[in-house]
Amino acid sequence: MNKKIKIALIFGTRPEAIKMCPLVKKLKENNSFEVYTILTAQHRQMLDSVVKLFGVVPDFDLNLMKPNQNLWELSSEILLKTKDIFEKENFDLVLVHGDTTTAGISALSAFYSKTKIAHVEAGLRTFDKNYPFPEEINRVIVDSISDLMFCPTDKSAQNLYNSNIKKGVFKTGNTVIDALLYVVNNKPSNLDFIGLNNNLKTILVTSHRRENFGEPLKNICLAIKELIEKNKDIEIVYPMHLNPNVRNTVIPILENIERVKLIEPLDYAPFCTLMKKSHIILTDSGGVQEEAPALGKPVLVLREETERPEAIEYGGVKLVGTNKEKIVNTIQELLNNKDEYEKMAKAINPYGDGHACEYIEKIILDYFAN
Ligand code: UD1
Ligand code: UDP
Repeated sequence: MNKKIKIALIFGTRPEAIKMCPLVKKLKENNSFEVYTILTAQHRQMLDSVVKLFGVVPDFDLNLMKPNQNLWELSSEILLKTKDIFEKENFDLVLVHGDTTTAGISALSAFYSKTKIAHVEAGLRTFDKNYPFPEEINRVIVDSISDLMFCPTDKSAQNLYNSNIKKGVFKTGNTVIDALLYVVNNKPSNLDFIGLNNNLKTILVTSHRRENFGEPLKNICLAIKELIEKNKDIEIVYPMHLNPNVRNTVIPILENIERVKLIEPLDYAPFCTLMKKSHIILTDSGGVQEEAPALGKPVLVLREETERPEAIEYGGVKLVGTNKEKIVNTIQELLNNKDEYEKMAKAINPYGDGHACEYIEKIILDYFAN
């Protein structure tokens, strides 16, 4: 029997888990692979609920999250703890995802251990090292030391070619669409616990980006307040990220306002059901920008820049930034102008066909066959 390809998938935050768990499952189905799952647990509760939903059982759990953690401490812990695992296990390939501290530092650690690296969701760029911070630099680091790069779109692959990274670059679609379709088709959720009013249009809000902490997030909340006062036929549902920097701003401005529901982060399955039920989505999240167009939901992105320009070009997403007037006016236009709403809702999803994991599996097999 041929030797199996020994692979580790390492992740630590909610979005990485959503986008990596389908791949863990896919690779585990294939006898050519010996698959290990390593959690840094950069997130804890928000990570665990996803891992449980997909039925993934981790082989290593570094359990690193600390309340209000900082980049230095988290990074050094990841580097030291992964060193021990990489040196002992001697993987043929380590897969990291996206642009978090977990991704950037685990990839660096694998590089120091002379282990081959694959980057899932490669090639995304704003080309501004400070925006998003520190994610843009994490992407650049990971792509510059990876052997295989799985790009969601032509544009992300082109970003790598333009940076003179040409070998090992593949367009696969984003595994988030695999995750979304699996959950939407297999894990329907009951949302009664939220207490939605079926006579109102639901506007779903999420935010957590560092660039928005403080004044920008305050403006977002003030825009929500103004929209609620102006429109008696809408309700806002805001599942708040557990980062205290988010909650400390959002709660004082938006608590106890009629038709504003500030709730705990939702597990992924109910969150998908809520996205499907929503009329408009207001977010600074990367993953939500990719998922919502696949569900036919207009998305307004609360950022000045995005590394995900495709859905803007296709028409399903608009960049509104964090200016209060701009947010209010853009939502008002969508609420009042049916044609404008339909145009956004009917735009094509550019992020994949739901088979990204299969394509990645095949590319890895081919890579080790040659
Ligand atoms: C991180 C990523 C960001 C990603 C986001 C997804 C970095 C630098 N940032 O940002 O790229 O978009 O995750 O959500 O990698 N917390 C909990 N429980 C949890 C999760 C978080 O209590 O399950 C709280 C803790 O106080 C923690 C804090 O949130 O210290 C911040 O978590 P951290 O991962 O450092 O930053 P995020 O803002 O979540
Ligand atoms: N999400 C979730 N519950 C929530 C909010 C978001 O399951 O209450 C999912 C969402 O569908 C998407 C992912 O979490 O797949 C996005 O994570 P986040 O916004 O934290 O990070 P980003 O994508 O910006 O890195």
